[in-house]
Amino acid sequence: MSQTGAGTIPFFDLTRQYGEIGEEIETVLRPLISSQQFILGETVRNFENRMSEYLGIPQAVGVASGTDALILLLKSAGLSPGDAVLVPSFTFYASASSICLAGGTPLWVDVDPDTFVVTPGTLDDALQAHCRRTTSGEWRTRDRDRPVRGCMVVHLYGQMADMFSISEWAARQGLWVVEDACQAIGARFGKRSPGALSRGAAYSFFPTKNLGGFGDGGLVTTREPSLADRIRSLRVHGSQKRYIHEELGYNSRLDAIQAAVLTAKLAHLDRWNEKRKERALAYDKAFGLQDAFGTPFNAADSEPVYHQYTIRWKAPGVRDHVRDLLAREGIGTEVYYPIPQHRQEAFLSLGAVSLPVTERLSESVLSLPIFPELTDGERDRVSRSLLHLLGNLPR
Ligand SMILES: Cc1ncc(COP(=O)(O)O)c(C=O)c1O
Repeated sequence: MSQTGAGTIPFFDLTRQYGEIGEEIETVLRPLISSQQFILGETVRNFENRMSEYLGIPQAVGVASGTDALILLLKSAGLSPGDAVLVPSFTFYASASSICLAGGTPLWVDVDPDTFVVTPGTLDDALQAHCRRTTSGEWRTRDRDRPVRGCMVVHLYGQMADMFSISEWAARQGLWVVEDACQAIGARFGKRSPGALSRGAAYSFFPTKNLGGFGDGGLVTTREPSLADRIRSLRVHGSQKRYIHEELGYNSRLDAIQAAVLTAKLAHLDRWNEKRKERALAYDKAFGLQDAFGTPFNAADSEPVYHQYTIRWKAPGVRDHVRDLLAREGIGTEVYYPIPQHRQEAFLSLGAVSLPVTERLSESVLSLPIFPELTDGERDRVSRSLLHLLGNLPR
């Protein structure tokens, strides 16, 4: 029996959002379904234009998923078969798998222990540890002599990495940069969106994202018209003119149905992100006076969108115990991510590396409910329950 209240608190519940805006979305969908125009066309173009305006990046191209957005972006940014790409291991699998699926190889990077994202320092450590610079200035891996051409920055949990310092560092190394912004729609760093200081950024509209579709969907934003054109071609079988194929492409279009749903939901995104922030600040306040775990840390110029509210336990072995105790109270939590990517079976053939911060984080992070429809009462019960448990934890 719960000591701090009754009932269950889900980690996430999309039915509440649907209860609020379902009718509005059905109104938008009905004429689209009547028109039977499901592939690209005006609805997708309109959504792309809205996203470009919202994010302040001139080009936006809708694709079938966030994973496809990453693959097409990498290919368009200049990834050639065999190239190595710097990428954090503390991320979702698709940040790294997209590099392999585009023909490259991940080169693992550790993250900052406070912000959970890469910095010029962690990128540089990986480059110096595993690569050498040739006399022509090119970086190559020491083990298999692969060229290192670029890096992927992942804006994890809704918080952007410092793209100002990272883009400067990358330019000095002769590397391009792409951004995995799948968890960071609406986030800014120094007032800039992902894609403002790199070759481009990839977004996901997986249903549980801050802007989620009724299925899979993704988007690439870029400042470069030629890169956007290449993605427009790659998403329809490498073709710009019907039945003329310049290169091997994919079938990776954003559905018109998804575009219609997402256009309707976009009108609510700032309000939803604001609600996430309010909940995060309330958690911060409630947790301020304890030192068992750290709360999310934001750099001064960072405007996060709290895709997750993730705490980090200081003592080893506590996280899973607390998670079980909260589950017994009916409170849902999640671990993003329990196995770092460099330890996934799919990537073991790349060789072992040591990433101390990543390894520690994967054993100590815990995400709490933060979705916009979480009530104040539920939020307070989460923090009360967690604080109540602290007294009974092993020391
Ligand atoms: C950081 C990150 N990268 C990539 C993806 C892949 O996006 P999708 O599931 O839309 O393919 C996701 C989301 O699932 C993600 O969170």
